[in-house]
Amino acid sequence: MAIRAIRTIGEECLGKVCKPVKEINERMEILIDDMFDTMYEARGVGLAAPQIGILRRLCVIDVMDDDPIILINPEVLETRGEQTDDEGCLSVPGKVASVTRPNYVKVKSYDMDMNEVIIEGEGLRARAILHEMDHLDGILYGQRANEPYRDLEEEAWEEE
Ligand code: NI
Repeated sequence: MAIRAIRTIGEECLGKVCKPVKEINERMEILIDDMFDTMYEARGVGLAAPQIGILRRLCVIDVMDDDPIILINPEVLETRGEQTDDEGCLSVPGKVASVTRPNYVKVKSYDMDMNEVIIEGEGLRARAILHEMDHLDGILYGQRANEPYRDLEEEAWEEE
């Protein structure tokens, strides 16, 4: 178990298109474990490999109301509907912004034996899958947002 350093907005690795995962070897298994540890420690619901400086098409997701997801070389097969809600990112600390995304997504991914698997998500699970997949193409949610990043603290203060 190891916690890796989360890279933040402005760092070059967050703007890169990541390369496919070729095989799941022991090193890759350790990386996936570390990604879960790092995500849970930071209280995030998703983490993509480039967020810890690894430019591979790999993400972990846990939205708490369902099984954790590992995405390996994921590809979107289908989307449906629309949802608009605030989104945040461990690489953009202290900020949120409203993002409109599909409400349902079906993706092709691979399991730990590199067998093809289909993963579906609705609501928050769909949002998390699409957000994390964007990281693999160097896209931060701010680029898809309906507004500039808002300060989380400022908002809490305004609500008082
Ligand atoms: Ni993110």
